[in-house]
Amino acid sequence: MTQTQNASGTIPTPAAAPPDILRCAYMELVVTDLVRSRDFYVDVLNLVVTAEDEDAIYLRSMEEFIHHNLVLRRGEQAAVAAFSYRVRSPEELDKAESFYRELGCPVIRKKEGFVKGIGDSVRVQDPLGFPYEFFYEVEHVERLAWRYDLYTPGSLVRLDHFNQVTPDVPKAVKFMEDLGFRVTEDIRDDEGTTYAAWMRRKPTVHDTAMTGGAGPRMHHVAFATHEKHNILAICDKLGALRLSDHIERGPGRHGVSNAFYLYLRDPDGHRIEIYTQDYYTGDPDNPVVTWDVHDNQRRDWWGNPVVPSWYTEASTVLDLEGRPVPTTERTDADEMEVTIGADGFSYTRKGDDDSMPEWKQGEYKLGNQL
Ligand SMILES: [Fe+2]
Repeated sequence: MTQTQNASGTIPTPAAAPPDILRCAYMELVVTDLVRSRDFYVDVLNLVVTAEDEDAIYLRSMEEFIHHNLVLRRGEQAAVAAFSYRVRSPEELDKAESFYRELGCPVIRKKEGFVKGIGDSVRVQDPLGFPYEFFYEVEHVERLAWRYDLYTPGSLVRLDHFNQVTPDVPKAVKFMEDLGFRVTEDIRDDEGTTYAAWMRRKPTVHDTAMTGGAGPRMHHVAFATHEKHNILAICDKLGALRLSDHIERGPGRHGVSNAFYLYLRDPDGHRIEIYTQDYYTGDPDNPVVTWDVHDNQRRDWWGNPVVPSWYTEASTVLDLEGRPVPTTERTDADEMEVTIGADGFSYTRKGDDDSMPEWKQGEYKLGNQL
């Protein structure tokens, strides 16, 4: 396989300083049936309702003190309206405005906020096509961390990260570095192709990841549990409710990030990850971990295969007027094709010809499954 030229040039580094981003804070999802979505996020996953009305539900995790980590808004077409980040102070919003205006991006500032519970906010459509939001002012609510009377076996305790699909990963990484993010891990091959990169502001493995594919699209939003057993409890509950078809992939342990994971699909197909126990990354010289795309332990440390839908399906994102953003195809080599496609291969021990037994190889070839 050979490296293909990137589809488009790099994004210039603005002279304006980027806003000081604290962390990923919430996602605004458009859902087509608010009642069905409430059943999934509140009754099954036990997210806490901070506020709700006929058009929207505002949800938070058990340890959160800001108004919400997820907004479900009723709409015609399932999509993502905002990836929202909290910044360090109100003044950082001026920086966000200048940074994106210099890049020629659509920028809207609303002193009263775009959603309930959030004050002065800046929304932009970034150069990669994604709807990003920045805010500082927010309504504080009760942090339920000590309310063990309210915990369930699968309680979600924090919003952990977003994951974005974008056709040109190096271009996205360079832009996000200009925005102040740092790479913690990535997946590459010997030909110089980058398939995905994990990037942080808070000192964990990531606040968002850039996954190669047709984009801009939203791959998933991830919530953390305290322990691995909480994830198993969610699987057991889905089984007991005869809702196991919401499970797309896992449970398992990632190679990348070292975290324990489970991927679910909500009633509209939005992908939710349940995630726990990655590692501290806050030192300035935190080592970047690079994985070979052919290492079959990179995405699942136990070598379990990734289902094709996980590579191919993702959510539409909206521009600032609420219109679906058209996608651009990836031109660099595709991770699914090079690992589980007809010509793909994976290994467990690099250089060892017997590293993948025949029966195991079949799991990585599309069409070879029973
Ligand atoms: Fe993730």
